[in-house]
Amino acid sequence: MYGHSGLNKIMKARDLTEHFRKLFHEHPRIFRAPGRVNLIGEHTDYNDGFVLPAAVAFSTYVAVAARPDSKLVIHSEEFPGNFDFDLDHLPAQRTGSWCDYVLGVASVLRQRGHQLRGANLLVHGEVPIGAGLSSSAALEVATALALMSLDETQLPLTEVAQLCRQAENTFVGARVGIMDQFVACMGKAGHALLLDCRSLKFQLIPIPAGIELVVCNTMTKHDLATGAYNTRREECEEGVRYFQKWNPAIRALRDVPVELLNEHISDLPPTIAKRCSHVIHENQRTLETARALTAGDLDEVEKLMRASHDSLRDLYEVSCRELDVMVESAEGLPGFCGGRMTGGGFGGCTVNLVRQEHAANFAREIAERYQQKTGINPRTYLCTAEDGAGELQREPD
Ligand code: GLA
Repeated sequence: MYGHSGLNKIMKARDLTEHFRKLFHEHPRIFRAPGRVNLIGEHTDYNDGFVLPAAVAFSTYVAVAARPDSKLVIHSEEFPGNFDFDLDHLPAQRTGSWCDYVLGVASVLRQRGHQLRGANLLVHGEVPIGAGLSSSAALEVATALALMSLDETQLPLTEVAQLCRQAENTFVGARVGIMDQFVACMGKAGHALLLDCRSLKFQLIPIPAGIELVVCNTMTKHDLATGAYNTRREECEEGVRYFQKWNPAIRALRDVPVELLNEHISDLPPTIAKRCSHVIHENQRTLETARALTAGDLDEVEKLMRASHDSLRDLYEVSCRELDVMVESAEGLPGFCGGRMTGGGFGGCTVNLVRQEHAANFAREIAERYQQKTGINPRTYLCTAEDGAGELQREPD
């Protein structure tokens, strides 16, 4: 289980500064970006739809100081390998290592005309990797802020989110949507963020008082860069091409009303029908969940989250046995107000809304149930919604 506080951040800054000084004999600036959970709106972002994520306390920290040459020297406290690249000869595509997220951001900044300077970077990552909590977006965003600080480049955070997404799309090769990078930049303590992934307009939705986010890690891994995620995207694009025949104004599944879906569902190939049906209804559910949360109607939220999970399992087919077991294990536990798989799927975590006074027990009991049914020891994290990315308070040299 996991907690976070201002004090925690100050200690983190001290440790990281000390480590950086030992490695590079300099005083760094430190940037932080959080991981996220998505309450609902799964696989809707790349369909121009709606999502409802919240930033959580797990963060990635990047300590940075300029170098006199054009090298990018990258070390990490947790990830293997140290790297040394020349900014003028960056690899054109991914190398297959975690440093790709750093290189991708550096390449995109350069392509956009930023005069990057050589830098020493030390990465401290505490977002669990491969758990669907968006460790990659956290690393991208913290890196972007760190690299931009060296020439005092100021970009609005919403643009930082977009360039980080571009890095993941073009350099790393995962065709992700904007959700993770956006909430890593714009998250707000105590709130989820209802984001329109087409206009990038968003609304902060307060998480009702007394509710905690209990995140349950199935400890099974997925790898977004592998085929399934990109295949889903292609299937959605195929769906759009069908709907355009019936209404040429349609640009994305977001534009397809439920009525048009119902009218033509039997004209679509069965797999495409299932994918489209998930996305179109999930957009509705996301808007309804935002309304229900605002109204404090947690019974409705529970129903919507459950429907989302069922749809991801049966129609979008991105769940797995472990996620299903974890979701079922939450049913009936005291204080439970709704839960589902969160993130891309194929393993990773579930997110649960749980009344604060029951949260610790809930975490214990769900872990026990899951362990009994799967033989796997899960991890649970008690989280609150946190602020998005920024610089840690600078310490005197
Ligand atoms: C991953 C991607 C996001 C989003 C989710 C599924 O987390 O990075 O852009 O598509 O999967 O909702």
